[in-house]
Amino acid sequence: MKTKNKKKILITGVAGFIGFSLAQKILQSKNYYVIGIDNLNTYYSKKLKLKRLDLLKSKNFKFYKIDLTEKNKLYGLFKKHKFDIIFNLAAQAGVRYSFKNPKSYTNTNIIGFLNLIEMLKNFKVDRLFFASSSSIYGDQKPFPKKEDSELNPINLYSLSKLSNEQFANSMSKIIKTKMIGLRFFTIYGPWGRPDMMILKYLISAYKGSSFPLFNNGDHFRDFTYIDDAINICIFLIKIKLKKKFDIFNICSSKPVHITKILKEIDKYSKKPLIKKKARDKADVYKTYGDNKKIINFLKKKVKFTTHNQGVKNTCEWFLKNKKIFN
Ligand SMILES: NC(=O)c1ccc[n+]([C@@H]2O[C@H](COP(=O)([O-])OP(=O)(O)OC[C@H]3O[C@@H](n4cnc5c(N)ncnc54)[C@H](O)[C@@H]3O)[C@@H](O)[C@H]2O)c1
Repeated sequence: MKTKNKKKILITGVAGFIGFSLAQKILQSKNYYVIGIDNLNTYYSKKLKLKRLDLLKSKNFKFYKIDLTEKNKLYGLFKKHKFDIIFNLAAQAGVRYSFKNPKSYTNTNIIGFLNLIEMLKNFKVDRLFFASSSSIYGDQKPFPKKEDSELNPINLYSLSKLSNEQFANSMSKIIKTKMIGLRFFTIYGPWGRPDMMILKYLISAYKGSSFPLFNNGDHFRDFTYIDDAINICIFLIKIKLKKKFDIFNICSSKPVHITKILKEIDKYSKKPLIKKKARDKADVYKTYGDNKKIINFLKKKVKFTTHNQGVKNTCEWFLKNKKIFN
């Protein structure tokens, strides 16, 4: 495969929700060659991750099963391919699971991230985009949260993300690669994560299992549709970056009450049995980000999908593909 005139993009966590969605979109253009890595762990359905790897049908895509903690393999990968751009989307995600299995957060999100940055000392890469998270803002007013708002991580997941930002900030002073942190806010949509609310609810209804509803659903989330987040990432690939380090909120800036989303899903699917649970200590009450910084930076009209449309698309995708979750 001729890759000479194509830009090479490395996507870590390519079998994951955002990594897959980004790779799929990039591969619509003939100008890029995408190399994806993932350890294909079983935190959630491996079948779903393997299905996402249908990406391999594209001749501009190559996959390697590599864990970010395997430094030698990472070195070999960087030696073989000259990457122009990296998106680090591999992570141990989920806030509640961080109390159950803290080690997976330090291994992937901290050590794995450091290994990746180490590569940038030896190999020239123009820009690294890395996933941070809205959860680092914690649970305090005022809203909406701006990139320079006070940070207050309340669990190991958000701490690991904050450490990534701080580490990237300090390393960007000695490494040539520009480093941009993307604070994603509750990304949802087709091919989404079965451990997150919308798919979890649909799967419970499909399988006849009960759905745990925390705090009577009395939470707000700044639900952000996957295509909107991916469009922003695509703009960021092309735009000129002046700063060595920066941080952007990636959010629709429209928080929605959880019960409103569940009611919306009920229009398309039967209701699961609800099992009421107390508020979980890992959950913040509300996420609500300000997205003006990224919009002004891109100088583009950024379109955000309404939650009604986004939920509809997600439910329709699920109903067509529910056998993946058998
Ligand atoms: N989806 C959201 O709403 C959201 C919100 C905030 C932040 N984020 C962040 O965005 C990124 C992508 O999230 P996602 O929703 O696609 O999660 P995901 O779990 O679907 O994808 C992560 C992928 O990384 C892989 N992975 C995990 N550990 C690895 C390791 N050590 N080496 C190689 N691969 C590994 C997993 O197998 C998985 O396929 C993550 O960093 C996540 O923390 C996501």
